[in-house]
Amino acid sequence: MEKPAICGGTPIRSRKLYYGHQYIDEEDIQSVVEVLRSDYLTCGPKIGELEEKLCRLTGARYAVVCSNGTAALHLACMAAGIQAGDEVITTPITFAASANCALYCGAKPVFADINEKTYNIDPACVEVCVNEKTKAIVAVDFTGQSVELDRLMELCQEKGLVLIEDGAHVIGTSYKGRMNGSLADMTTFSFHPVKTVTGGEGGAVLTNNKEYYRRLLLYRSHGITREQEWMENPWEGPWYYEQIDLGYNYRMTDIQAALLISQLDKLPLFSARRKEIVARYNQAFSALPQIALQEEIPESDTTRHLYILRLVPDQLTIDRRQFFEALAAENICGNVHYIPTYYFPYYQRLGYQKGICPKAEKLYQEMLSLPLYYGMTDQDVEDVIRAVVRIADYFAVSAGNHTQ
Ligand SMILES: Cc1ncc(COP(=O)(O)O)c(C=O)c1O
Repeated sequence: MEKPAICGGTPIRSRKLYYGHQYIDEEDIQSVVEVLRSDYLTCGPKIGELEEKLCRLTGARYAVVCSNGTAALHLACMAAGIQAGDEVITTPITFAASANCALYCGAKPVFADINEKTYNIDPACVEVCVNEKTKAIVAVDFTGQSVELDRLMELCQEKGLVLIEDGAHVIGTSYKGRMNGSLADMTTFSFHPVKTVTGGEGGAVLTNNKEYYRRLLLYRSHGITREQEWMENPWEGPWYYEQIDLGYNYRMTDIQAALLISQLDKLPLFSARRKEIVARYNQAFSALPQIALQEEIPESDTTRHLYILRLVPDQLTIDRRQFFEALAAENICGNVHYIPTYYFPYYQRLGYQKGICPKAEKLYQEMLSLPLYYGMTDQDVEDVIRAVVRIADYFAVSAGNHTQ
């Protein structure tokens, strides 16, 4: 028998709706099949083709694709020369990889609080964290909205820091009319299936800096080079290569690259549909005092990867967990992005204290992510809205004393 909704009656949906889903069409499938029938499964022509396409899309001079967004962050930190004793400033409202990349290099992640309205890292909080050990900022474009790049770039210039933009959510967004990916010292992308475009897995680092580009290429593949000008010993013949540094195998396959090339052709469509859904959600929720909307900065023309529903605690008789469960009972399966990174036991064991970023911690208590992806039908979107409105009204403080 169907489980009743927490607000009573039958659930708004009979089939579950999840917070994200990839969109793969026949062209995507054909482009992968072509690679499977070709001579190269990895390190073939699709890698360069994808890198060129990312450069054309973003306006960046160089792109280095790699196995995933975490590898991209690690590569960027290595290219920036981050090492033991250094500090790297990032936000706690992100996936753990944004801070882990500093740890991989032996450096210390330092967490700066967010802007309570946009949920992105607050440049004023970053500034307070800068000291003589600070080497870089890993600034996350949370939900796809650009960080305040002008202020962060200015700060980095003034203090001699490297700005690494963790753009795992940002593909398709522009800042002051220029695509994110061409603006920070390095920008990383993730192509995980919940992201706007996917390669199954995949990542990229974009930069305008030739020296970073050289290092990114080197670290992506074991620290090995075939370029004679980089070699330390005399070239011995056409087979010859040298390992001149310690790198990793962070290569992307041609199979992933082919899928991504095909997916990128649909980015304008994906982007437009995501914007449409966000606009519809915003319109529906702006009338509810129980819900606060994520503020948009005018500089960012945002392709939203995530839609955050923020609850206003003093307007509701239930908390985030109960709201989340009530939505699930309507068969709307949300998620929470993110648990503040330093809450994790691993970070606690490293000595991070709870309470260091109060605005981020408050947001964590009040937020959940609603379904947002290209393949959602208008009916799916309306179902989500009906469910949210139903729960928000049922458990509104003003509605009496419904509690769960
Ligand atoms: C903000 C952020 N940074 C980095 C990553 C890591 O990307 P990947 O999963 O491709 O390694 C993610 C992915 O979830 C992310 O959301």
